[in-house]
Amino acid sequence: MNSFILKGDVCCSGAPDALVTRDNSYLICENGVCAGVFDAIPPRFRDLPLTDHTGKLILPGMTDLHLHAPQYAFRGMGMDRELLDWLNAYAFPEESRYGDIAYADRAYTIFANAIRRSATTRAVIFGTLHREATALLMERMEASGVVSFVGKVNMDRNAPDSLCEASAEASLRDTERFLRETTGKFRNTYPILTPRFVPSCTDELLQGLGALSEQYQVPVQSHLSENPGEVAWVRELCPWAAHYGAVYDRFGLFGNSQKTVMAHCVYSGEEEIDLMQRNGVTIAHCPASNANVASGIAPVRRYLDRGMRIGLGSDIAGGQSESLFTAMTEALKVSRLYWRLIDSAQKPLSVAEVFYMATKGGGAFFGKVGSFEPGYEFDALVIDDSTLPHPRALMLAERLERAVTLGGDLRGLVAKYVRGKRLDLS
Ligand code: GUN
Ligand code: FE
Repeated sequence: MNSFILKGDVCCSGAPDALVTRDNSYLICENGVCAGVFDAIPPRFRDLPLTDHTGKLILPGMTDLHLHAPQYAFRGMGMDRELLDWLNAYAFPEESRYGDIAYADRAYTIFANAIRRSATTRAVIFGTLHREATALLMERMEASGVVSFVGKVNMDRNAPDSLCEASAEASLRDTERFLRETTGKFRNTYPILTPRFVPSCTDELLQGLGALSEQYQVPVQSHLSENPGEVAWVRELCPWAAHYGAVYDRFGLFGNSQKTVMAHCVYSGEEEIDLMQRNGVTIAHCPASNANVASGIAPVRRYLDRGMRIGLGSDIAGGQSESLFTAMTEALKVSRLYWRLIDSAQKPLSVAEVFYMATKGGGAFFGKVGSFEPGYEFDALVIDDSTLPHPRALMLAERLERAVTLGGDLRGLVAKYVRGKRLDLS
């Protein structure tokens, strides 16, 4: 079961700056796991069924390390404010609607279908604070075939009444119930603890979530050092903390015992960066969102040079598109602006590097994911780049570059495999 061969032009990432290209080769899936890329079919695999994608690109599936499912409904709208005003004007009013399970059902069905048809094979997703709606989101994601972590959001301060849990205790009780009800329920969909960000969570709530993370062995996602006003607010709220990340760290929510992904890290100082690296915290770089709500530009070159864990996030709906191709393009562009406007010592990112972040870098949050090395879970995309015609024959690396840079255009996505299973893209 789940063993087959794909033939085509294979690209994947070895290391951040090492793009691997294999023209006209054979990619083998054995029981949902990659057995490798070969110039000819090895005898032991000769009897496996082969799908011929000759002339098409075959890429690893992509990981979206950070996005908000309830915000999909207003993507591409309301980007005229910066973070804290944007939350109050757009995000919170929309998220308030998810107490209505019928509305949540309509919205999450649209969302899950969009993710199924996208280049994303793995995703780390915020729901809302509503337990029932978030459990329903998990059902929709499971049906999509995409593998995901999904979090019920925690917020017990600085939120409108419609979006503020009654107390830290009530929030923790509801979260524990969410964990009990969703852990082990699905094959491809798992719960993740989701304190929204420090301004939304009292110390008592963060402390309780740290305990739950340890007790239930659940990973953690949140936001970190995204916007100057936000960072200043955290300093006021938690004057005892040396930096923003130190707040999560104090409560065991910063990679201390469980894997953790922090979105943005635009304004992280030296101490915060050191701690993220020591604790193995994964960074979700969200360039579209950082530009749209005028947050700034994250120093990704530094994170890569230090060998930190990093991938890309669409941050729907701070980001306008769920396409990881768009995220790659935006990462390239903002890195050039960073070099031009902020620090000419930090050279811009390369196509190989953003491709690494979208595949192997982000995939690492899920284990051996995002590459075609033997032993990696078999997530793959087949892309017909003849939808992007060219007057001469291009090298495979050039074709990949074009697919990345022009790739918000997904008309060419002809097949998508997750854990060796081909998804329905209709
Ligand atoms: N910080 C806290 N909540 C959010 C959110 O919904 N989006 C973004 N971009 N940042 C946040
Ligand atoms: Fe976000």
